[in-house]
Amino acid sequence: EKRRLDEREELHGIMDLAVGFYREALERSEEGGTARRYLEGRGVDRATAEAYCLGFAPDRWDFLARHLQHRSVPLELAEKLGLVRRRDGGGFYDTFRNRLLFTITDIHGRAIGFGGRVLDDSLPKYINSPESPIYHKSEVLFGVSLAKGAMRETASAIVVEGYFDHLALYQAGVRNVVATCGTALTEGHIKLLKRYAGNVYTLFDADSAGRKATLRAMDLCLDAGFPAHVVELTAGEDPDSFIRKEGAETFSARLAKARPVVDYFFRQLVRDEDTGTVEGKVKVIDEMAPRLARVSNAIERELYVREISRVLGVDVRSLARKIGGSSSPAA
Ligand code: CTP
Ligand code: MN
Ligand code: MN
Ligand code: MN
Ligand code: MN
Repeated sequence: EKRRLDEREELHGIMDLAVGFYREALERSEEGGTARRYLEGRGVDRATAEAYCLGFAPDRWDFLARHLQHRSVPLELAEKLGLVRRRDGGGFYDTFRNRLLFTITDIHGRAIGFGGRVLDDSLPKYINSPESPIYHKSEVLFGVSLAKGAMRETASAIVVEGYFDHLALYQAGVRNVVATCGTALTEGHIKLLKRYAGNVYTLFDADSAGRKATLRAMDLCLDAGFPAHVVELTAGEDPDSFIRKEGAETFSARLAKARPVVDYFFRQLVRDEDTGTVEGKVKVIDEMAPRLARVSNAIERELYVREISRVLGVDVRSLARKIGGSSSPAA
């Protein structure tokens, strides 16, 4: 056990070293110029770059590997962090090359991984550190250490998809934000958010992937009894592009119009199904009933039941009966 703790400390130390090298390469090296210009182009200022520990991985196979070797770091440990990979013929090469790096931190702000973006349109757009003894993806949300104070103060958390979404909101002064970084929201994430906030807003990209992620996240919140709202953006936008185009005030107005989870589900269904037909109505009711059953506040549930039965033109009592029959909320 002691041995494992020591190794974790060592891994944290290696991450800190790597952050330092990559920061330096971004801020001061000549080859970092392209990355500095890229950030400028996206409107990222110096203070933000520092708050996020942004870095640059130069376009070389051994930038990090050599720096670590000079510090006598065993590259086998750096490999455990996914920072270097093993060469077929022996030795190691850098994982992150010619990429802008976001430092992923734990709740205390300690570096545990990187997300690296290309500086042009090449693919894959991002590569991310793998799971490691100090990085458990299902428990980590990007930006949580920057957000925890604001989440407590506002008692709410905003969940976005991407690194730049997080950064753009931060720069605009919206601080109670965490990012899932392209992975699905997990129960572990919800547990983490519940420590700080009593309410969650999802603010995912306005595309089909974002909509799917939203529906999944809403079901998860319903299961966890965690009050949730959905913020919808103009089609094709994400929080970063939206706030840049529309400004912080329009953004706040959107936030204020966030829809409660049941409301959101119902609107989506009414939009997608033909509620002019019996079949369409049945489909909507089949989808809504188990979700209404999970609304823990009885008054709230009753108000939704009345509203939904009115809109669909079905009897309130039959809808209520249907809900009673579907899986009821876990106490
Ligand atoms: N992502 C990833 N790997 C990819 C694509 C996306 O890990 N190949 C993650 C990243 O964390 C990214 C998030 O999913 O930030 C959302 O993806 P996307 O919306 O495609 O990217 P943006 O965050 O909008 O990135 P950008 O604005 O730089 O284009
Ligand atoms: Mn852990
Ligand atoms: Mn997206
Ligand atoms: Mn984006
Ligand atoms: Mn996006």
